[in-house]
Amino acid sequence: MTDMHRCRICRGVVAEFFDFGRQPISDAFLEPGQVENEFFFRLAVGVCQSCTMVQLLEEVPRDRMFHHGYPYRSSESTFMSKHFEQVARRFLETELTGDDPFVVEIGSNDGVMLRTVSEAGVRHLGVDPSSGAAGAAATAGVRVRTDFFEESSAIDIRAADGPAHLIFSANTTSHIPYIDSIFRGVDALLADDGVFVFEERYLADIIGQTAFDQIYDEHFYLFSIRSVQNMAERFGFQLVDAEHLPVHGGAVRYTIARPGRRKPTRAIDDFLAREEADGLTEPAAFERFATDVRKVRDDLMALLRKLRADGRTVVGYGATAKSATAVNYCGITEELVPFACDSTPAKQGKLMPGSHIPVRAPSAFGNPYPDYALLFAWNHAEEIMLKEREFRDSGGRWILYVPNVHVV
Ligand code: SAH
Ligand code: TMP
Ligand code: ZN
Repeated sequence: MTDMHRCRICRGVVAEFFDFGRQPISDAFLEPGQVENEFFFRLAVGVCQSCTMVQLLEEVPRDRMFHHGYPYRSSESTFMSKHFEQVARRFLETELTGDDPFVVEIGSNDGVMLRTVSEAGVRHLGVDPSSGAAGAAATAGVRVRTDFFEESSAIDIRAADGPAHLIFSANTTSHIPYIDSIFRGVDALLADDGVFVFEERYLADIIGQTAFDQIYDEHFYLFSIRSVQNMAERFGFQLVDAEHLPVHGGAVRYTIARPGRRKPTRAIDDFLAREEADGLTEPAAFERFATDVRKVRDDLMALLRKLRADGRTVVGYGATAKSATAVNYCGITEELVPFACDSTPAKQGKLMPGSHIPVRAPSAFGNPYPDYALLFAWNHAEEIMLKEREFRDSGGRWILYVPNVHVV
């Protein structure tokens, strides 16, 4: 018997549908020789029987995840940098055309979005508790507040800077279990006719592609249109638009407004009808997901063990936060994958959490090339395969495990 879990948003009963067991903090890369006292928690995921929000059952304290040493830098991906530049340009032509507009970003990281706003001379503020990332944003000319966005910081910002015409966030709202406080903060800060726009990985893509590695400590919520609509209404707002995005393996950009301020678009009804028809949050969908996840794990481990038995070399590519779940749930060890390459300076020379597989700079990849590369950063496949095309030209093969285990 497991304990009955309550929804972090509506207090409804949450039905667990997958347990990944003991998992480390996904972005807690370790110094070699400092692997004692590593923090672990139970990574299990369930769906609320009342509001349909998919969520983790255990919460990692936020200061353990987001602090000075938080290594993720959005700008490591050229593709994502271009994406956020386009996002900024679009806002500059739509939401930010009034007299002295003001935009706040929750989770501004290294300034990947706001630097374009800053260059345009538009009033802005990035809020991010990870001081390393915030420092990088400041260097890029972005005005930042090194802090967690929540009700109290939002009230401060409103008092100092006035109302925000746009509050934007990407790949951050789903990281925040205390989302009620975020909505109270948005309520305190947002101009009457302003919008709160956020982009997050989409549950339908995660379930549909068996992208189980999208489930890790930071991804506390896995949003669907239905669950976000319910959440917005619960906190006194309205979902007025939704747009599918081809980033991070499939995401949705949600637009939230104060009730009655904007006319909801047809896209929302289309999404809702599709989610309904697909039975997205029905038990059968999660049962299928659980079966598919176990098959991916078994197929991947069988392939890696066979390659090793055949004397083939395999190197990991992209020490992503996602890879923490993939590696530790599947049981991938240093014997099977002796190291992983990653372009992030703060990850290089360190050990991946849980597995303690070493991380090296991408220059180690072709020195010499392995026979196979296991692509942990599968959401950046196009960019990485283009960058590393010599690997395939020289006979190397990529191993992918989403939506199933295959070699290209
Ligand atoms: N928006 C960027 C960064 C996403 S990583 C992108 O899409 O690539 C998530 C970021 O959210 C991290 O930089 C983390 O420090 C930040 N974060 C976590 N909790 C937060 C909070 N309560 N308020 C503001 N930022 C937060
Ligand atoms: P993400 O999937 O959470 O965005 O993380 C991607 C990781 O992959 C990040 O650590 C940076 C790394 N990376 C590379 O090493 N090379 C690349 O070309 C890209 C795009 C990412
Ligand atoms: Zn709920």
